[in-house]
Amino acid sequence: MGPASNQSLRDDLELMEKHLEKLSTELSQCYEQIMLLYNLSTHMNLDQSCSTYLQLACDQLTQIVPVEGIAIFLEKKIEGGKRLVLSAGSGLLSIEPSMADILQMHLTAELTAGREALLDSQVDGPFKYAWSPRLRNILAVPVGPADRMAGFLVATNIQNKPDFDSTDVKLFHSVASQCAVFIENGRLFNDLKELFIGSLKALTNSIDAKDQYTRGHSERVALIARWTAEQMKETSPISEEEIHHIYLAGLLHDIGKIGVAESVLRKQGKLTDEERAVILAHPRIGASILSEIPQMRPIVPGVLYHHERYDGQGYPEGLRGPDIPLSARIIALADAFDAMTSRRVYREAMSIRRALTEVEKGSGVQFDPAVVQAFLGSPVENFWKAIQDGFIETWDYSSFEEYGIKAVGALIR
Ligand SMILES: [Fe+2]
Repeated sequence: MGPASNQSLRDDLELMEKHLEKLSTELSQCYEQIMLLYNLSTHMNLDQSCSTYLQLACDQLTQIVPVEGIAIFLEKKIEGGKRLVLSAGSGLLSIEPSMADILQMHLTAELTAGREALLDSQVDGPFKYAWSPRLRNILAVPVGPADRMAGFLVATNIQNKPDFDSTDVKLFHSVASQCAVFIENGRLFNDLKELFIGSLKALTNSIDAKDQYTRGHSERVALIARWTAEQMKETSPISEEEIHHIYLAGLLHDIGKIGVAESVLRKQGKLTDEERAVILAHPRIGASILSEIPQMRPIVPGVLYHHERYDGQGYPEGLRGPDIPLSARIIALADAFDAMTSRRVYREAMSIRRALTEVEKGSGVQFDPAVVQAFLGSPVENFWKAIQDGFIETWDYSSFEEYGIKAVGALIR
C-alpha cells in the first residue's frame, strides 16, 4: 500500500471519528431530552400546584437548552377579562411581562401562517419583528392546541450556539404540551371537586331543612371545623389531607338524620323513648351510609363520634378524652358553637361572646381543651362575621390583610 492510500485511510478514519463523536453527542442530547420528558411525566401528580410544575418544566428545560431567559405566560380570567400572567420562569432579562400580549400576537400570526413556532433571530439577518435591543434570538411555542392557546412558553438568547434549531423547537413543543396536559388535568380535577362538594352541600342542605337549626348548619360546621383544624396545625401535626377530611366530615356529620322524621327532629316537647332512640342513632346511621363509599371511609370516625363528649358522657359509645378521634373532637365543638349562635324556633341566637364563654366553660368537660384553646386563640369573631348566614361567597376580599392570607385561603378553599 502506497503513502497516498495510507493518507486516504487516515482521512477516512478521522472522518469516522468525527462522525462518531457527533453521533455520541447527539445520543447524549437525546438521552437528556428523554430524561427531561420522563421527569416531567413522572412529576405529573395533582398534589403539586400548577406553578410548581411549570417552574419545574422551565428549570429542567434550561438545563438542556441553556438560555438567558425562559417563561410561561398563561391566560387568566381577571376582573371579567382575560390577561396573560407570568406563571413560571427565570432570568427574564429581555422580555417584560408587558410584552406578553405583543408576543402572543406575533406567535398567533406565525401559527396562522402554518409555522409551528415563533422563531426570530438576528443571526441570519434582521429580525422579523421589533424586539428589545438586548435580544439576539427568541423562540415561543403555544401551550395547548394552537387554536385554543392557554398561553405560551418563550425563551430568549440561547447561550451555547448561535441560534435555536429545529431540535429545540421540537423539545419546546413537547414540554409545552406536557404543561398543557397538566393544566387541563388540574382544571378537570377542580371541576370534579366542585361537582363533588356541590352535590354534598345540596344533600346536607336538604337534611338541614328538616331540622330545627337554621339553614346552612352543616356548611357552617364544616367551615368552623376546618378553621379550628387550621389553627391546630400550628401546634400539632395535621396534614392538609386530614384538614380536608375534617371539612367533609363536618359537612356530612348529620347525614344520618336522613332517615329521621321531620316531626321528630322539630319536636319541641319531651321525646318518647322511641323518638329519642331514633335521634341517638343518627351518628351510626351516618357512619354506615358513608362506610359504603370507599373514598368516604377516612371521614367515618368524625361522623360516628361527633356526639361524644370529652368527659365520656356522650354517645354512641361514651368514648373519653383522646380515645375520641381528633376529627370528632373538632366537629363536636363546631357543631355546638353553631347550634348556640343560631336562632332556633324556641329561642333567639346566643351572642357570640356568650357562646365563646360557654365553649370555654365546656373545656375538658364537653370539649377537648386543646381544641378549645385553638378555637378561642383565633380571631373567631372576625371569622364568624364572614361565615354567618352562609354568605361566605360574598367575603370582602379587600380585607385580606386583616385576617391573614393563610386564614382566608383556608376559608375560601
Ligand atoms: Fe348530630
